[in-house]
Amino acid sequence: MAKAKRRYICQACGSVSHRWQGQCPDCAEWNTLAEDAPATVFSLKHDLSAGGRPVTFEPLDMPGAPLERRPTGLAEFDRALGGGLVPGSAILMGGDPGIGKSTLLLQAAAKIAKAGGETVYVSGEEAAGQVRLRASRLGLADAPIKLASATSVRDILTTLHSMTPPAFLVIDSIQTMHSDTIEGAPGTVSQVRGCAFELIRYAKESGTALVLVGHVTKDGSIAGPRVLEHMVDVVMSFEGERSHQYRILRALKNRFGAVDEIGVFAMAGQGLEEVRNPSMLFLSGRDEPLAGSAVFPALEGTRPVLVEVQALIVRLQSGATPRRAVVGWDSGRLAMLLAVLESRCGLNFSSAEVYLNVAGGYRLSDPAADVAVAAALVSALADKPLPTNSVWFGEISLAGEVRPVAHAGLRTKEAAKLGFGIGVGPEDADGSSDLNYRGLKQLANLVDRVMASP
Ligand code: TYD
Ligand code: MG
Repeated sequence: MAKAKRRYICQACGSVSHRWQGQCPDCAEWNTLAEDAPATVFSLKHDLSAGGRPVTFEPLDMPGAPLERRPTGLAEFDRALGGGLVPGSAILMGGDPGIGKSTLLLQAAAKIAKAGGETVYVSGEEAAGQVRLRASRLGLADAPIKLASATSVRDILTTLHSMTPPAFLVIDSIQTMHSDTIEGAPGTVSQVRGCAFELIRYAKESGTALVLVGHVTKDGSIAGPRVLEHMVDVVMSFEGERSHQYRILRALKNRFGAVDEIGVFAMAGQGLEEVRNPSMLFLSGRDEPLAGSAVFPALEGTRPVLVEVQALIVRLQSGATPRRAVVGWDSGRLAMLLAVLESRCGLNFSSAEVYLNVAGGYRLSDPAADVAVAAALVSALADKPLPTNSVWFGEISLAGEVRPVAHAGLRTKEAAKLGFGIGVGPEDADGSSDLNYRGLKQLANLVDRVMASP
């Protein structure tokens, strides 16, 4: 038997290191490495004379049953899932604590239960009374959900095996679950993985659609959902700023569909409301032209969403290091854009503080936002408001060229529908006839255009 080695497991992403380090080399989180029980290594070679069963090979084109999807009835949830729940699938629902995961799943469970699907909701975080209280606040107290407060996976599986398998099973959250066959406290990587493995196996065998709730934690005190990403069929992330009303449900991985559709919800007094037409949500609704503000026609899957980007530039007198702060966009991308504006267009941001904010707690991931961000920055720097009826989009290269982006036509069409009159974007974009469209070749053309504003 080989000598057992010490190993350290990152509690955030599950990667293994052979020495302790302050920062995880894989996910770059700090203080997340914890020593794991030593792994015993037996012979790495199978003794084949002991016998094994032959594996059967199958042709790829064997006719099978078409993929069955069961809509939950929460249209925004179904949209993000790619059409509904697939029986026997495992879904991981990640998100910050307090963002609304339990609320969303209770609402989905109630919809399914009311439509006649057997539904089990196991809460390891709240007592049944607390969940009941939330349900009555949501007006769902009459939904025939089977509710349990439990954390032992052995107890949960024993119970599930003694009944008809439910159509929908929620485990809230996987980090509170505990298996007595595995060492360690609930929330450690080995417990989270082991519990998830058993629950997922139950889902596959029984045809139950399983949702595992996973809190995203920054401090690494409990294992993050990333350690489960490869085990489940679908990874969803529920995002938003807690101080804002809007929540976005996004699929980050989906073995049964596309990952670019989003579901949009608003957190209200009676739970999450579905937002069927989100295109106007992230505009601040101003009439007065304001320097530093640009509207960006973003695209989420097939759905256009108009988003306001706000920039503020503060000139510093002293030689202090200027701050750059970003909410809702990538700070690395902002640094790149500032560098391109400085080196290709001769603008000077070096002695100024730069603040960038995306309105409404929205997080931009669309690369076409570059032009809108640049327009907001130049407008703030020059103190020249952009026309309130204009939208800006396009990707910017390091050379300062404005690059074409996907679905320009869809973006301009939605902007025109919502009453915008001017579109500024890449030079030969398709479908630009809906708006008074101005094409940009270089970032310098954008600067000229902003400077020419009254
Ligand atoms: P919750 O679903 O418990 O979040 P998670 O499971 O992701 O931790 O939601 C918590 C927040 O949602 C809570 O701070 C209050 C708010 N909320 C409302 O605003 N309205 C409601 O109807 C409900 C049920 C919650
Ligand atoms: Mg919760």
